[in-house]
Amino acid sequence: MNVYDSARMADVLAPLGYAEAAAADGADMVIVNTCHIREHAAEKVFSELGRLRLLKQAKAERGGHLIIAVAGCVAQAEGEEILARAPFVDIVLGPQTYHRLPEMVAKASRAGGHVLDTDFPAEPKFDHLPAPTAQGPSTFLSVQEGCDKFCTFCVVPYTRGAEYSRPAAAILDEARGLAAGGVREITLLGQNVNGYHGDGPDGGAWGLGRLVRALADVPGIERIRYTTSHPRDLDDELVAAHGEVAKLMPFLHLPVQSGSDRILAVMNRQHTAEHYRRLVERLRTARADLALSSDFIVGFPGETDADFEATLRLIRDIGFAQAYSFKYSPRPGTPAAAMAEQVPEALKEERLAAIHELIGAQAKAFNGGCVGRRFDVLLDRPGRHAGQLLGRSPYMQSVYASLPETMLNTVQRLRVVEAHANSLAAVLDTDMGETDIGERACA
Ligand code: 5AD
Ligand code: SF4
Repeated sequence: MNVYDSARMADVLAPLGYAEAAAADGADMVIVNTCHIREHAAEKVFSELGRLRLLKQAKAERGGHLIIAVAGCVAQAEGEEILARAPFVDIVLGPQTYHRLPEMVAKASRAGGHVLDTDFPAEPKFDHLPAPTAQGPSTFLSVQEGCDKFCTFCVVPYTRGAEYSRPAAAILDEARGLAAGGVREITLLGQNVNGYHGDGPDGGAWGLGRLVRALADVPGIERIRYTTSHPRDLDDELVAAHGEVAKLMPFLHLPVQSGSDRILAVMNRQHTAEHYRRLVERLRTARADLALSSDFIVGFPGETDADFEATLRLIRDIGFAQAYSFKYSPRPGTPAAAMAEQVPEALKEERLAAIHELIGAQAKAFNGGCVGRRFDVLLDRPGRHAGQLLGRSPYMQSVYASLPETMLNTVQRLRVVEAHANSLAAVLDTDMGETDIGERACA
């Protein structure tokens, strides 16, 4: 989401004459776009600001002026504290107000002093943002923002605000524009993306399944993904879309957080482990080659050995192509931060290592199982070595192959010849038969 927001901030500032600089050194303005999801991410903001202060001083000594802005969820949650601890910061803005950046920049450079704008405006920012420009063949498209779920560990409902779904017509317009600019793959974005319920062009409310079908009809769009989804909101229509919309990639990031019903309840996830298992079964029935990824939190308050075992069991039973795991990190203002029975750091470390090992083994098996398979790969970047191109498999794996530059930004049929820890090596496959994908996922 922050990658998307940063791109949109660049769009908003372009008419003022700002363009992206290669490095902070020499720039006229630096925007630090921040994340508040875990403590570690938030901590990094102040050390980054320390470095920028030196740049600003050096620039001032040469008679110049560096504008420093802090955007994103740390700014939203701790705006006043940022200005108190780092008074050299000129602008503090939340994730819902960056369409007002031009005014903020004007104020900061004309009047001096600080500008703080962490409102939740009644009118959504999307009504005020310029149409995004295509930056390559694969791009994000924001369809939904905010979250009303209030999982007890999570800051998102406080920093991003209430759930909002953009009208379907605006999304389809944006997709047509992006396709005309050369985009072939779109990833639909939202904190709770499958909770999407936007106004349809026909007057009724559309769910994400309906939206995906309509987007699949946009000429030029060849691949569709969405992230991040919640197991509670994955309705029948969306499950069916996975089976019927070939352009919807067979890879789904579906965070479950824990395999223990007791912990899931205290987390306020509003579903059980069994619900998740059944949902995955339905998805795999709809689309046999679907592969899954997930998020896990270890060391949530009160998590016992038995709870953690239940999580490992769920991972073994489901089998993930990849997954992210995090030590529980108490976030200010969230209910879980105030819970008794916080898990000691050493135990969190131990559980994190165990879950990493299991997930790592599954990811390795998945990548290994891809050797010999044929995939359509969207080649969107030059590779690390000359003469190579890099792209993403349907399962989001990085795939590289020795290919002519003319194939950049095209979809090519490749055969995987080697699996590495974080990438797959492939060769061009000239057999134009069906891809292997369709019958089963890799592992
Ligand atoms: N501590 C640890 N992990 C967290 N996440 C969200 N909040 C916390 C927290 N307080 C993780 C969840 C979520 C992912 C984006 O970050 O697993 O799915
Ligand atoms: Fe946070 Fe996701 Fe839960 Fe919303 S659904 S509160 S974004 S973890």
